[in-house]
Amino acid sequence: MTDVRDLRADEARSIGDLLSRAGFGPTVAGLIAFPRESPAGDVLVAERNGRSVGGVCCASFGATGWIGALGVLPDARRRGVGEALTRSACARLRERGAETVLLFATDMGRPLYERLGFESEDTVTAWRGTAGTARSDVTLRVLREEDRAAVRAIDRSATGEDRAAAVRTPAPGRSGPRPLPCRPSYGTSPAGTPRSTLGRS
Ligand SMILES: CC(C)(COP(=O)(O)OP(=O)(O)OC[C@H]1O[C@@H](n2cnc3c(N)ncnc32)[C@H](O)[C@@H]1OP(=O)(O)O)[C@@H](O)C(=O)NCCC(=O)NCCS
Repeated sequence: MTDVRDLRADEARSIGDLLSRAGFGPTVAGLIAFPRESPAGDVLVAERNGRSVGGVCCASFGATGWIGALGVLPDARRRGVGEALTRSACARLRERGAETVLLFATDMGRPLYERLGFESEDTVTAWRGTAGTARSDVTLRVLREEDRAAVRAIDRSATGEDRAAAVRTPAPGRSGPRPLPCRPSYGTSPAGTPRSTLGRS
């Protein structure tokens, strides 16, 4: 029997470890900071026999909602945990007003999502590497409070979504801005599976 519940406040570290072991690698902790900390986000945990075996992140942007970093520990797979997490994430996003739920599917996740009614929209390739230097005619700087409206408008025109909740300026003391949950980076794929499918239900 699988139970799906909200992440508890004292589990910030353990959910990062769990999702790393589920295939998302060591950088996943940074990606789950937004759904964990933002009022627009949710992190759900799947338990079997009192053991946490899977997790999923949700981001709600009004009429659209995103599922990301859905993972199940290898020894707990093929028992319906992934399905329970996906159904719970969709239910949570719909409760928050989502009419469309989007995600990036890995090759492993695709059959599960298609079974639950997601339809493939396109394919994307996620790139990884060390950031190089910017072109000399491009100036980069940290986002400022006064940039917020322009960034929100650019994001809205690029995605068709209102993701104001994710357009944030960095908190004092942080060295740089948190990344937006922009399409390839939020729905990150586990290491070794760079191609993913953008699906919606
Ligand atoms: C993709 C992933 C989340 C699926 O998790 P899962 O818990 O195995 O998912 P489910 O058990 O609900 O479904 C997986 C398969 O097991 C089958 N299954 C479910 N319960 C079963 C049971 N009791 N006995 C036998 N098979 C069962 C399902 O029918 C499904 O089969 P299918 O793939 O042929 O359709 C998991 O493989 C994973 O974490 N992968 C790495 C991370 C990843 O790629 N995540 C997706 C990101 S988008």
